[in-house]
Amino acid sequence: MNTPHPPRPGGLQLRSLHKELGGRTIIDELDLTVEPGELVSLLGPSGCGKTTTLRMIAGFLQPDSGSIRMAGDDVTHLGPDRRPSAMVFQNYALWPHMTVFRNVAFPLRIRRRPKAEIAERVDRMLGLVNLLHHRESRPARISGGEQQRTALARALVQEPSVLLLDEPLSNLDAKLRVKVREDIRELQQRLGITTIIVTHDQEEALSISDRVAVMNAGRIEQFSTPTELYARPATEFVATFIGSLNRFDGSFDGTRVVPGTDVVGVRPEDVVFARGPFDRAISATVERSVPHGHFTEVHLRRADVVLRAFVSGEAPEVGTAGYAAIAKALVFRDGRLVDEPVGVAA
Ligand SMILES: Nc1ncnc2c1ncn2[C@@H]1O[C@H](COP(=O)(O)OP(=O)(O)OP(=O)(O)O)[C@@H](O)[C@H]1O
Ligand SMILES: [Mg+2]
Repeated sequence: MNTPHPPRPGGLQLRSLHKELGGRTIIDELDLTVEPGELVSLLGPSGCGKTTTLRMIAGFLQPDSGSIRMAGDDVTHLGPDRRPSAMVFQNYALWPHMTVFRNVAFPLRIRRRPKAEIAERVDRMLGLVNLLHHRESRPARISGGEQQRTALARALVQEPSVLLLDEPLSNLDAKLRVKVREDIRELQQRLGITTIIVTHDQEEALSISDRVAVMNAGRIEQFSTPTELYARPATEFVATFIGSLNRFDGSFDGTRVVPGTDVVGVRPEDVVFARGPFDRAISATVERSVPHGHFTEVHLRRADVVLRAFVSGEAPEVGTAGYAAIAKALVFRDGRLVDEPVGVAA
């Protein structure tokens, strides 16, 4: 007889989570469901409540109301050490006087695991994050990326159902950030571990997440895949926070909008610029030209508006005359995306 696979453990549900701090509502009736094995980013501007949410999930902060379920169990009233989660803190919080090995072994020693088991599990974890050669080094003697991996190993050695990371890459330089975030994603997928990463870096969130929860003032504005977030931002906030947007009040290029209440948003890559005339294009002049390596951002003056556009190939010089048209526009009514497709006509 075929026995079906048991459901994968893990997963996380936040229901109506609420928290006031210093007399202000910091987290406002927040709901979030993370599937087992999924990597979800909490993305939002500084002060929107990302760390507060993560600390409640980890058990370092009690919500005023609402509930937290992990791997099927209600953990709302359990302390951090009784939850099946492990957290990596922003500053890594490694013990400077302990070797890499002892740092990673620490959570297991607290749990009074047998010595041989500790050695076996820690070494396996150090192998997984490529740190065996630094087993006996102290944190001060290893690089930022290696410290980050030590902190990650210390969380993973606990074999948590849910891994929580608060801005795990913010202490690393730009090149290393990309490498370490890919390492984290690879490891997370290999272990199939439910993971929540807090970040205010949109590129980081979009590049490694299955889904991204965009937060604003203690609420989730949108919870979607990276592709969906970019192509169909639910609100004007999400559209401006993620990527770049040209914004116009009221009608623009024949978009069917309600003048006065609607806002039209156009992604710079949806502005088409060419030297010669083409269908629906209006004459435009390059006012600024900002090279970004593989593309150039140009500011185009078109009648009384300035449009930002991304162009590839050779950067056009300031003063270049040409033609510009809009391929696609997003329309927001009272801050929310208008659902019907938006026609653009000259
Ligand atoms: N103990 C506290 N007492 C009063 N206010 C607090 C307390 N802790 C956090 N806050 C406030 O709650 C809000 C959210 O803080 P939080 O640390 O969750 O933000 P964040 O989204 O992680 O921001 P950042 O990206 O800057 O880390 C902030 O306005 C902060 O000042
Ligand atoms: Mg924070």
